[in-house]
Amino acid sequence: MVNLDKYSSIFIANWKLNGNSSFLKHYYEKLKVNSNNCTVICSPSIYLKSLKVNNNNLFSGAQDVSSFKEGAYTGELSASMLKDNNIDFCLVGHSERRQYFAETNGNVKTKSSNLIEENIIPIICIGETLEEKEKSLTEEILSTQIKNSVPNLANHKNALIAYEPVWAIGTGLTPTLDEINEVHEFIKNYDQKFINFKVLYGGSVKSSNSKEINDLSHVDGCLIGGASLKVDEFNTIIS
Ligand code: PGA
Repeated sequence: MVNLDKYSSIFIANWKLNGNSSFLKHYYEKLKVNSNNCTVICSPSIYLKSLKVNNNNLFSGAQDVSSFKEGAYTGELSASMLKDNNIDFCLVGHSERRQYFAETNGNVKTKSSNLIEENIIPIICIGETLEEKEKSLTEEILSTQIKNSVPNLANHKNALIAYEPVWAIGTGLTPTLDEINEVHEFIKNYDQKFINFKVLYGGSVKSSNSKEINDLSHVDGCLIGGASLKVDEFNTIIS
């Protein structure tokens, strides 16, 4: 398993359903990894093996995993198959999967625990919708998500949490810096066991705001969608 303690910052690129072979070739030729940070590229699963890892701090991550371990589940990829292909990280419970693929906290918990058993680090995504934020339900929603989607065997060495307000994803909107720091502090104080967890922020991170967000005392890195598709911009974010 990757030694998370080694890194002060972790940057995850979430390409979602984007990219093709020529995009990958160009991207990997130009990607400049900063050796002080951990950089993870979550490409579509068919391209996971294309990442030529020529740097100890660069890793390939999947965007999802099956909640089943093996059997008659057409179209699925198991945690052990990811491990067999040297994948070290996997996003779990991204809001797009919760919204479009009916993923529940229970699914997220099972997937995360299957990943940890295979020594793959789950990046467990949580976050409130705009409606929930406006009703001041953020802490309540996050508490439910943490309680029901983080498995008991998760700890600060084998799992990551990503706080992604749903309303900030792909919209260009972000919470204020104070709000981000407060929510991260809330997550870390939710239970004694989360104090040392690394908590990443995601939602409209770009080169113009990544430094101020990542510099916040309770932020340990960023999860980047749209801006991670532009390699020059992503290089600036991770530099
Ligand atoms: P965004 O996406 O950076 O495009 O807002 C983040 C994510 O979905 O992880």
